[in-house]
Amino acid sequence: MQQLEVSEELARRVVAALRRAFDVELSPAEALIAVSARDGVDYQCNLAMSLGKRLGKPPREVAAGIVEQLELDGVADRPEIAGPGFLNFVLRREWLEQRVAEQAGDERLGVALVAQPKRIALDYSSPNVAKEMHVGHLRTSVIGDAIARLLRFVGHEVLPHNHLGDWGTPFGMLIEYRLAEPDADRGELNAFYQAARQKFDSDEDFANRSRERVVKLQSGDPETLAFWQELIDESTRHFNAVYRQLGITLTDADVYGESFYNPYLGKVVEELEADGLTEVSDGAVCVFPEGFHNREGDRLPLIVRKRDGGYGYAATDLATVRYWTTERGATDLLYVVGSPQAQHFAMVFAVCRAAGWLDGVHAEHIGFGSVLGADGKVMRTRAGESVKLADLLDEAVSQAAEIVAERSELSAEEQQQVAHAVGVGAVKYADLSGDRERDYVFDWNRMLAKEGNTSVYLQYAHARIESILAKAGESAGDAPILLAKPAERALALTLLRFSEAVHAATSAYAPHKLCTYLYDAAVSFSRFYEQCPVLLAETPELRASRVQLATLTARTLVQGLALLGIEAPRRL
Ligand code: ARG
Repeated sequence: MQQLEVSEELARRVVAALRRAFDVELSPAEALIAVSARDGVDYQCNLAMSLGKRLGKPPREVAAGIVEQLELDGVADRPEIAGPGFLNFVLRREWLEQRVAEQAGDERLGVALVAQPKRIALDYSSPNVAKEMHVGHLRTSVIGDAIARLLRFVGHEVLPHNHLGDWGTPFGMLIEYRLAEPDADRGELNAFYQAARQKFDSDEDFANRSRERVVKLQSGDPETLAFWQELIDESTRHFNAVYRQLGITLTDADVYGESFYNPYLGKVVEELEADGLTEVSDGAVCVFPEGFHNREGDRLPLIVRKRDGGYGYAATDLATVRYWTTERGATDLLYVVGSPQAQHFAMVFAVCRAAGWLDGVHAEHIGFGSVLGADGKVMRTRAGESVKLADLLDEAVSQAAEIVAERSELSAEEQQQVAHAVGVGAVKYADLSGDRERDYVFDWNRMLAKEGNTSVYLQYAHARIESILAKAGESAGDAPILLAKPAERALALTLLRFSEAVHAATSAYAPHKLCTYLYDAAVSFSRFYEQCPVLLAETPELRASRVQLATLTARTLVQGLALLGIEAPRRL
């Protein structure tokens, strides 16, 4: 049976007491139960203050009323009322010990599956064909993949789709260039693109042929399509190499590029027109969704069909929404795309809502900030180009190799694997551990630091536990948990919060909440280990219990890091 999380357990009891004492109905989430920072107190309830106002009673009186009606059934001692009316909860030792033992016996470490699984279409990574993935694509790939893993773990169905930029005017130019310069190296994506661009800008004739080529592409000319496919394949090989290196779970089956929606575009316009939502403006078919204006107060259009009959980025996104909701039955649409596109998505959602394509569907843009260089500006190479993701990851692994090289007992092969886990992990964790909406400065020293909230610290903590466990020999089986010392109790309380951390990170699409938790868990373990000898414990029972706690901590770190897409090597 799935257990309630500890705070939920207390919240339900408080809510029930409140009903009995004051005939007030609140949801458990409104009970304001929080982990307490005070020594000797586990959780506190801050409800009496706000409720006092509402009931016109002194908060301490409200608190006393709650306490009188609380049924605790051995979960906690009767709470003391502190200060203006806080309830201070101290959990019963036997109850905690029992709960930890149950969590240790649970493969899912106490993380409940959601009661109502959703079918979530998740757009992430979505790089552009014929261009190298750059550091901006790092964030969507890493954050998107962590969100996918979290959603799946709590029981949702995830339909990942990689919205490749594989359509539109640049392709005419690229194909034409491929024909004009058959020997140009297409493996160097950026160089190829730039050369084509240069010819396009300087050669009128070439530019005209490029424009004609777009028309041929869009009307399905077989020869043109074959060249186009070649470009896609070239880029996909490159993207897949980066995904493999980064441990991103996207596969070729998840590719739904812009071109995929081409056959649906006509239908999109038709339905919008039939609903009376469109206006022709300057020859283009537009929708002006309500509430979007520029600074001058003019309405902003979403262009559905351009004057020349072509379709652009916005039209494709309308078709994308329509496809995933009406054809694939998605209940939720999530887009992990940089924050500069916030308005684009807000407008797309508004139009789709008006068209009825989002009825009963939740659509959300999951934005994120930029990666900055040491100078505080968007990260670039010394030559002023955007930094290639593949180069960045190579550098991460070679920096990590230096750290790992200190460990001479690892075989060369193991060193290489560990360097990969540490280097790539550090880049991913640096991206995930801060609030995603904020920009962050890319800093090798900070991300590879062995102390602080870094993946390296967590990986070391895990490897240290593994080495303790290896020395302990046989596992402790299901020996009873004994929480004698404060550091043991503190560790137990932290371990019991894993489920809460996973659900908080998942429902807010905020992987950093899980990072913060894992860091707490590792710190908590290190305090425990300082104060509670494991191998040299005072009694065999205590030793067995501590081995159990260590094992549970290791499993929590491994599972938590796995949900972030980061490996935890056993030896480091
Ligand atoms: N290809 C775009 C870019 O690199 C991102 C696409 C995001 N997804 C979408 N459905 N618009 O900026």
